[in-house]
Amino acid sequence: MKVLVTGANGQLGRALVRLAPAGVELLAYGRDALDVTQPQSVPRVLAMEPAVIVNAAAYTAVDQAETERAAAYAVNVGGAEHMARAARELGCRLVHISTDFVFDGAQGRPYTPESKPNPLNVYGASKLAGEQAAQAIKPDALILRTAWLYGETGSNFVHSMLRLMRTRAELHVVDDQIGTPTAVAGLAQCVWRAIEGRLLSGIQHWTDAGVASWYDFAVAIRQTAMALGLLQRPAAVLPVPSSAYPTPASRPAFSVLDKTATWRALALTPGHWSAALADTLAAVAKAGGDS
Ligand SMILES: NC(=O)c1ccc[n+]([C@@H]2O[C@H](COP(=O)([O-])OP(=O)(O)OC[C@H]3O[C@@H](n4cnc5c(N)ncnc54)[C@H](OP(=O)(O)O)[C@@H]3O)[C@@H](O)[C@H]2O)c1
Repeated sequence: MKVLVTGANGQLGRALVRLAPAGVELLAYGRDALDVTQPQSVPRVLAMEPAVIVNAAAYTAVDQAETERAAAYAVNVGGAEHMARAARELGCRLVHISTDFVFDGAQGRPYTPESKPNPLNVYGASKLAGEQAAQAIKPDALILRTAWLYGETGSNFVHSMLRLMRTRAELHVVDDQIGTPTAVAGLAQCVWRAIEGRLLSGIQHWTDAGVASWYDFAVAIRQTAMALGLLQRPAAVLPVPSSAYPTPASRPAFSVLDKTATWRALALTPGHWSAALADTLAAVAKAGGDS
């Protein structure tokens, strides 16, 4: 089975490549090789004749998107449209990745795929518009929303925390935004299971299990990294409200996703996020550390 992965140099793209099952002929392209914003990306994909397109390409700079709206929409909406058009013309399957930031966080209980989106920032609005564009063109697309992603490499909260914990004695981390840290390895496994089983379409949710604030996540990163020898001294981590750490983009206070239906359909239940964090940091340590 030929599977095309866009955004192959991103966190999820790399995990998809690393964890591709035997029997998959992988066509993995980073932005340089396949720019999804370009109209020519459609005939290029048609010529490759994949059986499945996984659109992992995205504009993910949440704060920067506030001042780079056109750039965010070009990738997150234009790119989604191009990949959906190619999938429709080929009659192939489309897996498009989206985000918990389509929600405003006001609901106070986990969001199901049927919950009403109401993005608070430009990034979230562009991702929601991308979902809608992909579904309008390719109604049977699998739209997989996830959250708080991190991998062994890439620019993410885990690596930012490790860097700051090495250079600062004290860190302030917000404790009033609640979500679920999610390892890209588990998400990649979910994508491959969905592709192999032909099990899912429509909007689905995937994250690891459990909930945390960014503060809880930071404390767990410190504890796990200390145990693995990735940190030599325990920086102090202090909880602060979001109001003490203003950012250009507003973020949902509570963006936990209800994954029940997806987990059941795939017969795949991830472990608690802290176990996935321990696995990821163990792999980082095994590879010789993150810096
Ligand atoms: N990261 C999170 O916390 C998070 C949370 C929820 C949902 N998601 C969603 O999960 C998916 C994967 O995210 P990720 O964390 O893997 O993001 P990532 O590490 O930022 O990867 C995105 C990749 O897309 C590439 N890209 C950007 N513009 C492109 C273009 N025009 N054509 C082709 N590729 C392009 C980027 O290339 P460059 O490196 O050259 O820019 C990057 O390699 C995205 O849909 C994202 O919205 C992420």
